[in-house]
Amino acid sequence: MLSLARAGTAALALGLAQPAAAVLVYVTSYSGTLTSLNLTLAAAEANSTTGPKASIQQLAVNKGCAPQASWLTLDKPNGILYCLDESFGNPNGSLSSYKTSWNGTLTQLKRVETPAGPVYATIYGEGGKGLAVAEYQGASFSSYLKDPESLAVVEQVTWTLPHPGANATRQDTPHPHEVILDPTGKFFLVPDLGSDLVRVFLINQTSLTWAPVDPLVTPPGTGPRHASFVIGDKNQTYMYLTSELANTVTGYEVTYNANNTLSFKQIYEAPSHGAGTVVPAAATVAEVVTSPDHRFVIVTTRSDSTFNITNFDPKNSTQLVSDSITTFSVDHSNGNLTLVQLFPSGGQIPRQFSINKAGTLLGVGQQGSGRAVFINRDVQSGKLTGFAGEIDIAGQVTSVVFDE
Ligand SMILES: *[C@@H]1O[C@H](CO)[C@@H](O)[C@H](O)[C@H]1NC(C)=O
Ligand SMILES: *[C@@H]1O[C@H](CO)[C@@H](O)[C@H](O)[C@H]1NC(C)=O
Ligand SMILES: *[C@@H]1O[C@H](CO)[C@@H](O)[C@H](O)[C@H]1NC(C)=O
Ligand SMILES: *[C@@H]1O[C@H](CO)[C@@H](O)[C@H](O)[C@H]1NC(C)=O
Ligand SMILES: *[C@@H]1O[C@H](CO)[C@@H](O)[C@H](O)[C@H]1NC(C)=O
Ligand SMILES: *[C@@H]1O[C@H](CO)[C@@H](O)[C@H](O)[C@H]1NC(C)=O
Ligand SMILES: *[C@@H]1O[C@H](CO)[C@@H](O)[C@H](O)[C@H]1NC(C)=O
Ligand SMILES: *[C@@H]1O[C@H](CO)[C@@H](O)[C@H](O)[C@H]1NC(C)=O
Ligand SMILES: *[C@@H]1O[C@H](CO)[C@@H](O)[C@H](O)[C@H]1NC(C)=O
Ligand SMILES: *[C@@H]1O[C@H](CO)[C@@H](O)[C@H](O)[C@H]1NC(C)=O
Repeated sequence: MLSLARAGTAALALGLAQPAAAVLVYVTSYSGTLTSLNLTLAAAEANSTTGPKASIQQLAVNKGCAPQASWLTLDKPNGILYCLDESFGNPNGSLSSYKTSWNGTLTQLKRVETPAGPVYATIYGEGGKGLAVAEYQGASFSSYLKDPESLAVVEQVTWTLPHPGANATRQDTPHPHEVILDPTGKFFLVPDLGSDLVRVFLINQTSLTWAPVDPLVTPPGTGPRHASFVIGDKNQTYMYLTSELANTVTGYEVTYNANNTLSFKQIYEAPSHGAGTVVPAAATVAEVVTSPDHRFVIVTTRSDSTFNITNFDPKNSTQLVSDSITTFSVDHSNGNLTLVQLFPSGGQIPRQFSINKAGTLLGVGQQGSGRAVFINRDVQSGKLTGFAGEIDIAGQVTSVVFDE
């Protein structure tokens, strides 16, 4: 480690090329594949404004998280990857555990059935012993023992709606779309697209059970999907919620009450492209992620077709239609967001993306294009600078995760 760091510093000082950095990346697709990639970033060319280019090599394809792999959660310290499979049209989806390895080979350890349509999983509880899963189609929320050989159910609930929501086609039943932890790890937050709620649960850290507390009620027909937290420089807690049906980003200041509930005060709301913008009617905002330094919030908008970009195939002169990624800076004094940049996602329907730990690279799953795209990012300005590389993956790409 030390000698590598020294070599890097010496190379910098001499203006020499940095040693190439390789990272494993996992990608899921609705074609039922879980693909391992080796992504190597070359040294950036002198005076490049777009950042380094990546070479991307496919290492292995696993077909055990099928028929419709939808989500990946990595337990890095234990070298275990959890994969969800939505399994459309079937009464049950599935949850699998995999052992990772240095060469990208994934060994499936266990596969269990879940309620229908699992879409998001989060590790929780003391020692990270639990895995909570939002099951969109089944209107269920479950937690499992994270032990990769067990995956036994800890607790499970299924919800119903007395009548469909304001958007009857999308809000026919509750549709939990995500489960995340608040920054203290004491609460689950479960945006429920069907019920116009962000459900909140207090976690028992040792038994791994959870109990509902006062939810955040969102306006009818907005369809909350995903959320992400920012910790302000005075330890304020801000939460940014993407609402798929309204195509909005809403900011809240969150306070912790003495009675073990959360209160939410709205502090920001605008379309997914920012305040004062008009986004095409077909647009449905999807992912929201906080930058590692908590200075920026990054959002993907699906089906806005905001850009035509140069084809990734240099021999093909036909431009590609691209949806967008919006970067906002966070005003830590009040949680307000300011538009920094609208950038092409590199394809259609950017459902999900991950940011690497250094904050220098995004891995974006383009569900409508069968493609994983890697985008360079400038940590200081928060701006995306250029495409590092891409790889076509058969089917609808649903999740891209860095093994780091
Ligand atoms: C990958 O690594 C594992 C564990 O070291 C080993 O068992 C396996 O043979 C390797 N596979 C390939 C394709 O190199
Ligand atoms: C990934 O690529 C780099 C650079 O080409 C190579 O050094 C490394 O061995 C590769 N890793 C695997 C697991 O194939
Ligand atoms: C599978 O689906 C059925 C029908 O919805 C449900 O009753 C059952 O609990 C599910 N199985 C599991 C393991 O979640
Ligand atoms: C329901 O949401 C979809 C977006 O998924 C939108 O196209 C449609 O217009 C909405 N319908 C109503 C009644 O608001
Ligand atoms: C958590 O659950 C355990 C086991 O059921 C129980 O003994 C403990 O009192 C619970 N803790 C809290 C804070 O409710
Ligand atoms: C920050 O706020 C959270 C939530 O109220 C609290 O649990 C935590 O102790 C605070 N941290 C500091 C350093 O004050
Ligand atoms: C918990 O406390 C908050 C803030 O005082 C209050 O608004 C809320 O109604 C209380 N909830 C319950 C269930 O007591
Ligand atoms: C993209 O190209 C198509 C076909 O030429 C055109 O109709 C469309 O307006 C272009 N979109 C943008 C955002 O430039
Ligand atoms: C060129 O790219 C377009 C847009 O992706 C695609 O439809 C077309 O098949 C490509 N042509 C060739 C020869 O690959
Ligand atoms: C929020 O940011 C926008 C854009 O920078 C600005 O116009 C607006 O005045 C800010 N509002 C507050 C309350 O800071």
